[in-house]
Amino acid sequence: MINFPEGFFWGSSISAEQSESRVKNDNKGLTTWDKYYELEPYKFHNNIGPDKTTGIYEQYISDIELLKKTGHTVFRTSISWARLIPNGTGEINQKAVEFYKDYFTKLKENGIEPIVNLYHFDTPLKLEEEFGGFASKKVVDAFSQYAKTCFELFGDIVKKWVTFNEPIVSVEMGYLKQYHYPLEVDSKKAVQVAYNIALASAKAIREFKNIVKDGQIGIILNLTPAYPRSNNLYDLKAAEIAELFANNSFLDPAVKGQYDKRLIDIIKKHDLLPEYTQEELNIISQNKVDILGINYYQPLRVAARASLPNPDAPFMPEYYYDYYSMPGRRMNPHRGWEIYPKGLYDISKNIKENYNNIPWFVAENGMGVEGEEKYRVDGMIQDDYRIEFFKEHLEWLHKGIQEGSNCMGYIVWTTIDCWSWMNAYKNRYGLIELEYDTQIRRIKKSGYWFNELSKNNGF
Ligand code: BG6
Repeated sequence: MINFPEGFFWGSSISAEQSESRVKNDNKGLTTWDKYYELEPYKFHNNIGPDKTTGIYEQYISDIELLKKTGHTVFRTSISWARLIPNGTGEINQKAVEFYKDYFTKLKENGIEPIVNLYHFDTPLKLEEEFGGFASKKVVDAFSQYAKTCFELFGDIVKKWVTFNEPIVSVEMGYLKQYHYPLEVDSKKAVQVAYNIALASAKAIREFKNIVKDGQIGIILNLTPAYPRSNNLYDLKAAEIAELFANNSFLDPAVKGQYDKRLIDIIKKHDLLPEYTQEELNIISQNKVDILGINYYQPLRVAARASLPNPDAPFMPEYYYDYYSMPGRRMNPHRGWEIYPKGLYDISKNIKENYNNIPWFVAENGMGVEGEEKYRVDGMIQDDYRIEFFKEHLEWLHKGIQEGSNCMGYIVWTTIDCWSWMNAYKNRYGLIELEYDTQIRRIKKSGYWFNELSKNNGF
């Protein structure tokens, strides 16, 4: 039996845009995802866009019953900025206020603590079109105002808050790799957006401290530990730089209140320094996170580059490394991601040794599988592969905790199968199955297993 510390929390994560659905007359504003889907619907798996997703806006009361049956002691979701403030700034949508108040209150009444995130890739379209999204300091201030509104409206109910989910993904996918709107390839802007998001997070934390005196606030980062191909000096150097971009870039400002000098030197060398002021740097250094959420899916294996980079190409972190496909690595073929449970242990050590052992929790970990209906027996999806995946990760996490890591809980991705951006409903991650057309929900074998896990506080 592997036992977790007393008070360890168990749950799952989902996000607003991926789960709520848009309903007639709900007054939700448009997001960048609505725009992207309108422009290029064929880029979304099976042409499914962000309007009809998992229907939680209408079904949250019965869904909370399912959360209870699957052992949730916590549940993480996000507030849709465009639902609450349809234009991003200005008028508040009262229907959204009622919805979120009731949603969060009902969770608590059922013994489930809500962990609420403010931004999960879903910029209100108006702010993107008018100002260029997080590339603009105006949007940094709009975010801080939106955060303040959320703390004032819901801060008496919700005590655990998060500013951003996976900000590096917004940067990479929106400004380097063209998976998120505005689909640009602009390294200078990418660096500006990364800096602006770190600043927006710190400004939101500053608001939080004035309003919610008895809560905690953090950020959720997807950490992909960078492993070198070998002990060759240049492989090691490649991994060191990959680590700076992939992990330190947001961990350092969030937890330490400042950037790593090595990263700044590289950014300077490529003439990519963002616009900043000393006053902003002070805000970042004075408003660090209380807690950290960590999403872990896969490691980042790298090697020294085999060729010289083209000096004229737009800058990418890959200027300094090649991706390395380690022979014999275990893969999740549906997602194309390596499965490496020990990564979670390595993360726990990194946080303990290099980030003051700050209290943290696993905020996402999971396995996306395509075509899960084929595993249905007697009406239930027998997702033993997912249970194995969780167990292996939990074993390594447990070892990290035994060695002193300050991990407070384990939250998987995801609750009910949900819409996942361009992948839409391709890969299913849920503890609970969604029959998309009818919106019927059925608990999977992993959901029942998760209930036992939570009840026993171990397995
Ligand atoms: C996480 C995101 O990175 O991965 C989620 O926070 C996302 O929003 C999840 O849905 C799974 O992604 P994908 O691309 O495998 O469907």
